[in-house]
Amino acid sequence: MEPALSMAYDDIDLNDRRFAPSVMRNREPILDFLKTVLIEPGSVLEVGSGTGEHGAWFAPRLPHLTWQPTEFDPDMHKSITAWAADAGAENIVPPQTLDVLDKTWLPAEGLDDLVAIFSSCVVHITPWAVTEALFRGAGKYLPTGGSLILYGPFIIDGEPTAPSNADFDAWLRSQDPDWGIRDLNDVTELGEDCGLTRETVAQMPANNLSLVFRRI
Ligand SMILES: C[S@@+](CC[C@H](N)C(=O)[O-])C[C@H]1O[C@@H](n2cnc3c(N)ncnc32)[C@H](O)[C@@H]1O
Repeated sequence: MEPALSMAYDDIDLNDRRFAPSVMRNREPILDFLKTVLIEPGSVLEVGSGTGEHGAWFAPRLPHLTWQPTEFDPDMHKSITAWAADAGAENIVPPQTLDVLDKTWLPAEGLDDLVAIFSSCVVHITPWAVTEALFRGAGKYLPTGGSLILYGPFIIDGEPTAPSNADFDAWLRSQDPDWGIRDLNDVTELGEDCGLTRETVAQMPANNLSLVFRRI
C-alpha cells in the first residue's frame, strides 16, 4: 500500500464539522468492540462515514491502523476532514467517494493492506441492494482472514430485538419502503454467498449489534 498520507490540516475550518448525535453515544462502545477485532496492523475502509466522527474517534485510539473514510455524498467530505483535523489524527487518510453500487470500489483497490471494512448504520437506511453490494465488495476486496464489521440494529429470526427497534423499523419503511432493519439470518446467508462467514454477534447498547464476518 502507499504510505499512509495523513491529511494536510492547514486551512481546515472546524465549523465544517457536522454532528450525528448517535455517534457521541455509540463511539465508545464501538471502539471497545473494535479493539477486540482489529488486532493486526493494516488499513480499514469505512463505508458510509457520514459526518466522519467515528473515524476521528477511532483512528487515534487504534494507532496501528490506517483509517480510510469514504462517503457516498461528497458534501460530507469537508465534515470528515474537519473532524480528522479536530482529532489531530495522523492515521486518517483523506475521504474518498464510494458508492458501493458502483462496480469498482476504487478506494478499496488502492488499499493493498486492507484488513477490515467497517460500516455503521448503513444497511437499514438503504435499499437491500446496498447491503448486497457491500457484501459483494467485501468478498471481493478483503483478503483471506479480513473482516467485514457492521454496527447497527438487526432483527433476529424475524423479531425486532426491542419495541423501540420495531418502531424504528416502521419509521424507516415509512420513509422508503426499501429501507428497513435487516434480519440477521438474511445477512448471514448473504455473507455465505460472498465468502464471508459470520463469526461474531455482539450485543451493544441501545439494542444494537456489532457483527463480524470473516473472509474465508
Ligand atoms: C445514517 S448514515 C450513517 C453514517 C455513519 N456511519 C454513522 O454511523 O453515523 C447512512 C450512510 O449510508 C451511506 N450510503 C447510502 N447509500 C450508499 C451507497 N450506495 N454506497 C455507500 N454508502 C451509502 C450514506 O452516505 C450515509 O453515510
